[in-house]
Amino acid sequence: MGAEWVRQLTQRGWRVVLTARSRAKAEEAATPLLAEGAKVLPRALDVSDEASIASLFRALEGELEALDLVVNNAGVNPKDHPDPTLFRRTFELTELDPDAVTECIRTNGVMPVIVAKHALPLLRRSTSPLVLSISSWLGSIGEKSMGGHYGYATSKAALNMMNRAMALQLRDAGIVAVVVNPGWVQTDMGGARATLTTEESVGGMLRNVVDRVTLVDSGKFFQWDGSEHPW
Ligand SMILES: NC(=O)c1ccc[n+]([C@@H]2O[C@H](COP(=O)([O-])OP(=O)(O)OC[C@H]3O[C@@H](n4cnc5c(N)ncnc54)[C@H](OP(=O)(O)O)[C@@H]3O)[C@@H](O)[C@H]2O)c1
Repeated sequence: MGAEWVRQLTQRGWRVVLTARSRAKAEEAATPLLAEGAKVLPRALDVSDEASIASLFRALEGELEALDLVVNNAGVNPKDHPDPTLFRRTFELTELDPDAVTECIRTNGVMPVIVAKHALPLLRRSTSPLVLSISSWLGSIGEKSMGGHYGYATSKAALNMMNRAMALQLRDAGIVAVVVNPGWVQTDMGGARATLTTEESVGGMLRNVVDRVTLVDSGKFFQWDGSEHPW
């Protein structure tokens, strides 16, 4: 989904910092876009490592005038991990592993706000700053209807609360922060049976959320189609 965010934003003429765990991986993803004349800055970022986040934004502060949008898209789902026991250790009560659950909450729930923390100096230089973090319907407590999935579901519920806490704290600075459920999307994580293409999901989030939200919406949980998601 991250590649599609970059594709659609550059098509709109935005200058986009494309990140991946390594600089080589980011450059590989950026190459076809750069060939089409898109304005892409490939950079390394491991969102689970605060030193990596701090280093990226320190460097960007010298390169960019401002940052209008942060998309916290990177995420992990233990079901996709090469070690099949990891999923069971975050899903099945009888096998529940506190460290595995906590690691998932840390990456998906806490680190997006740490990214925003380091992006603050650049966001403050924007006239319409927005932090958009990708949540999930699985993070909705009110809508939860299936047992288990302690790691992933709790990580996205944590993200929703972390974001709301941040949004209220940033309101006076005029910085908007929202969480969005992208729908069920055809990616490695979503699988081929998913109902939305990345183009539909990202296009929906751009038109219905990025283009529309204002400070009164800060802290809210949206669907990709712009409607509000139940908590
Ligand atoms: N697909 C869906 O139906 C769906 C539904 C609801 C929510 N979401 C959420 O949507 C977002 C995008 O998911 P997706 O479907 O595109 O999943 P994906 O195909 O599994 O892609 C996830 C991306 O996150 C990157 N990532 C994971 N940990 C990282 C780290 N520590 N540092 C840097 N990058 C990291 C992965 O990089 P590597 O390849 O290097 O690991 C990968 O590129 C996630 O937050 C996910 O939870 C997806």
